[in-house]
Amino acid sequence: MKKQRILVAYGSKHGATGGIAEEIGRTLEQDGFDAEVRPASEVQDVTGFDAVVLGSSLYAGHWQRDALRCAGRNADALAHRPVWLFSSGPVDSSAERHDIPPVPGAARTMEHLHARGHATFGGSLTSETPGWIARTMVKHGKGGDFRNPERIRAWAHEIGNELRSQGPE
Ligand SMILES: Cc1cc2nc3c(=O)[nH]c(=O)nc-3n(C[C@H](O)[C@H](O)[C@H](O)COP(=O)(O)O)c2cc1C
Repeated sequence: MKKQRILVAYGSKHGATGGIAEEIGRTLEQDGFDAEVRPASEVQDVTGFDAVVLGSSLYAGHWQRDALRCAGRNADALAHRPVWLFSSGPVDSSAERHDIPPVPGAARTMEHLHARGHATFGGSLTSETPGWIARTMVKHGKGGDFRNPERIRAWAHEIGNELRSQGPE
């Protein structure tokens, strides 16, 4: 049987969200899907995919521009296939302790695309992260890598299970 094709697209400024997307892609591949991971800025057409996972890092309570634009230009096609969204943000353990709802912009995107689910994962801000704001935050002890591969994999497995139980649309 032909494998279902899943696109994992991400909007990222400094790479942390790309790492989460890669983990999701790897997990879906292990679960028997054909997963492709791409920066949201490069995604012009999603019609070749059976399902899409779209994620973004959070900056001042907003999704990153590339992810929002990707959602906008593909809105029609995305609304007609299974879609899940994720956000990468908190540089503390809050995402481990409780479910963090989507920021208002991501919630609107969820609604437009009829997305099936959303997860907020811990983000990453380290001394490697470029930019003076990041540097200042790290200097004041507000940094660290809070991405949790286990939680990311568990979420990707849930997506895989749901897609497998339904088969291609
Ligand atoms: C200037 C600045 C603003 C940020 N604002 C938020 C925010 O509003 N909410 C949040 O959860 N994380 C926030 N973060 C943390 C980032 O979302 C986190 O570092 C993320 O993992 C970065 O992903 P990226 O490297 O893919 O861009 C902020 C980080 C910086 C440097």
